[in-house]
Amino acid sequence: MDLRTTTLHFILQWGVLFYLVFYFQPMLISSQNINPTPCNSTDVSALQAFVTSLPYSTIKGWSSNSSSVKNTACCNWTGISCDNSTGRVIGVDLQLMNLQGNISPSLVQLDQLRWLNLSYNRFAGSIPNQLLYLPNLERLDVSNNFLRGTIPIFNGSSSLEIFDISYNNFYGPLNPSICNYTSNIKILRYSKNLFRGDFPIGFSNCRSIEEIRLDSNIIMGSIAVDLFKLSNLKKLYLQDNQLSGEMSKMFSNLSNLIELDISDNLFQGKIPDIFGTLQKLKTFSANSNDFTGLLPSSLVNLASLRILLLRNNSLSGQIDLNCSAMTQLSLLDLESNLFTGPINALNDCLTLRTINLARNNLTGEIPSNFRNLKLLSYISLAENNFYNFSLALSIIGDLPSLTTLVLVQNFFGGEHLPSSILGFQNVEILIIANCAFSGAIPPWIANLTKLKVLDLSWNLFTGTIPPQIAKLDSLIYLDLSNNVLSGDIPSSLTNLKGLISKNIVQQWADEADYFPFFTLSNITGHTRRYNLINHQFLPSLILRNNLLTGPILSGFGILKNLLVLDLGINQLSGAIPEELSRMSNLQVLDLSHNDLSGGLPDSLSQLHFLSIFSVQYNNLTGKIPRGGQFDTFSCSSYEGNPNLYGYPCNPYNKSTPSEFLTDQMQGKKDGLIPDFTAGAIVGMSAGVFIGIGIGALIPLGGRFSTRCSFVGFLYNFLPRNSVSDA
Ligand SMILES: *[C@@H]1O[C@H](CO)[C@@H](O)[C@H](O)[C@H]1NC(C)=O
Ligand SMILES: *[C@@H]1O[C@H](CO)[C@@H](O)[C@H](O)[C@H]1NC(C)=O
Ligand SMILES: *[C@@H]1O[C@H](CO)[C@@H](O)[C@H](O)[C@H]1NC(C)=O
Ligand SMILES: *[C@@H]1O[C@H](CO)[C@@H](O)[C@H](O)[C@H]1NC(C)=O
Repeated sequence: MDLRTTTLHFILQWGVLFYLVFYFQPMLISSQNINPTPCNSTDVSALQAFVTSLPYSTIKGWSSNSSSVKNTACCNWTGISCDNSTGRVIGVDLQLMNLQGNISPSLVQLDQLRWLNLSYNRFAGSIPNQLLYLPNLERLDVSNNFLRGTIPIFNGSSSLEIFDISYNNFYGPLNPSICNYTSNIKILRYSKNLFRGDFPIGFSNCRSIEEIRLDSNIIMGSIAVDLFKLSNLKKLYLQDNQLSGEMSKMFSNLSNLIELDISDNLFQGKIPDIFGTLQKLKTFSANSNDFTGLLPSSLVNLASLRILLLRNNSLSGQIDLNCSAMTQLSLLDLESNLFTGPINALNDCLTLRTINLARNNLTGEIPSNFRNLKLLSYISLAENNFYNFSLALSIIGDLPSLTTLVLVQNFFGGEHLPSSILGFQNVEILIIANCAFSGAIPPWIANLTKLKVLDLSWNLFTGTIPPQIAKLDSLIYLDLSNNVLSGDIPSSLTNLKGLISKNIVQQWADEADYFPFFTLSNITGHTRRYNLINHQFLPSLILRNNLLTGPILSGFGILKNLLVLDLGINQLSGAIPEELSRMSNLQVLDLSHNDLSGGLPDSLSQLHFLSIFSVQYNNLTGKIPRGGQFDTFSCSSYEGNPNLYGYPCNPYNKSTPSEFLTDQMQGKKDGLIPDFTAGAIVGMSAGVFIGIGIGALIPLGGRFSTRCSFVGFLYNFLPRNSVSDA
């Protein structure tokens, strides 16, 4: 599973959770206010049998002792709701209780039960089939467990309205048999299981259904035609399957549709011109299929549409949205298609907040009426053929809501970074990377006081690192790597508040819903991939591959929030300061390819989170530290230091025979088989990549690329919007 899928699942799960919390909230309240009516004894014993069947779990406030007087108050037990007049249990809501075991069939005795929510636990085994026929059961939610087996076969009457088995391990063909036995079903969720096979026939019997989620399974072929009879359907989630063929024209029959997601399938051909009848559609997502041809006119005139996601297809022609008609469009993602021409049509899309047009063949200047997009917050125009960067900068600088902009100057080369800029007062993320910029780093950078992320890497910037950068109190990510910067590392960098004080990072985590973080996740050849990281961003100081001289500042020790310190490939000299061992959260430390001398401080082994470490190619001497993470690094971390010795490098590095022997014995005694990959993987995944992997790619042609572009970022829109519209 790739990062994007993983993170999407993460968000979907939590999205569903929040939805459910709200859904069940009224019931939670009623269970708290319940009067102490004595409990029906059958109900009590059913509940007790249920909890005793979970030997590793306890439910706070539940009594499993059948003789206890408290039993009469089972209506006050956590998660239990009773009917006020009869005292019978009507609701069991035990989501997120860390319950572990099988679902006991004893619950079947709760014959007045109307809702059962066991989601977000660790239930395994299958669903007791009898539960499905509880005569009053309206809502059954067992999502986000480890349940397995084939889909329960319904063969008797059921009053279910909500049936949610998503995020489990159910397998086999998908069977909508439930539709034959309940006329009430409104919501069916089968997402993220292992269902495999052709798209099932039979959903049309669910005449009142409003929501169907089949996403993230292995459903193949074309959509069964009878699905299109469901005129009440509001939400249809089919993404992340293997559906193929053309998108059916019969979608036009689903006239109540609000959200439609067919992303990550194998659909091909043109997007049919069927949106004229879908006057309620707010979200249309068809990313990562193989759609070709023009945007259909009914789609680009659809007044209700808020979110349009068509990235990673082969759509072509101009982006001719009719924004006089599309008066609600907030998010537009057309990345990675074959669109051409200028983007003037977007001028009137005044409701746009996020635009991603990266990786197309768009041309022209940024139209000056772009200034009208007062709500625009995220923009990406990467990898197109736009020109006149200075003009673009002056227009985009005027956008009052802009927070995220990855600027890569010099669209065609030959243009220059202005010595001053206006606007950009709310910009938090700024990337001017990979554009062969020369000259000094412009001083106005230090005036963009809200900057959290600054990336000027892969240019030809010369001169020294401006010490004023330290004025940027919120900065947590600074990448000046791969330039021609010289001089000492300014000591002011050790004053970067965002890297010292956890409070700042914490505060951002609270805003995280609205703040997109992203980080460079890998470099393959000349391709640099940025991944968006929601919720958490990797605090980094990356000065790699410049001409920096002088010592490594002992003051870095104060940067307790720094996770990545990369000073590799410079001309730094002197000793590695002991104080680096105080950077207690450091995960990556790269000092390779410098002129460092002296020993490796033993105290570095106190860096418990260090997973990537290199001092390759320096002039270090003495013994390699042992203990902690140092027992996991390979000898290649020390390569090119002929006077450095000890585990794990012997016998290749110089050492006295006796010490070599001792080290070897020590290694054997501790049973240390260095497992470098595992160390690195654990370190890299240590809570860092939480969030959304909707990244924008910058595959520019390396350091001397002449064609530059804007890159911007999307935040995770889809699940959140789905939830808020619920
Ligand atoms: C879709 O609507 C058309 C016209 O209203 C109708 O003829 C057709 O039978 C419908 N298709 C389905 C599958 O319901
Ligand atoms: C783009 O879509 C193709 C299928 O059409 C898929 O294989 C690929 O992974 C997608 N790429 C991205 C970056 O989503
Ligand atoms: C654009 O939308 C407006 C308002 O709905 C409409 O009057 C106009 O005809 C549309 N233009 C095109 C080219 O469809
Ligand atoms: C960019 O646009 C401005 C304003 O239209 C114009 O004065 C300038 O000459 C253009 N620069 C280039 C390089 O085309």
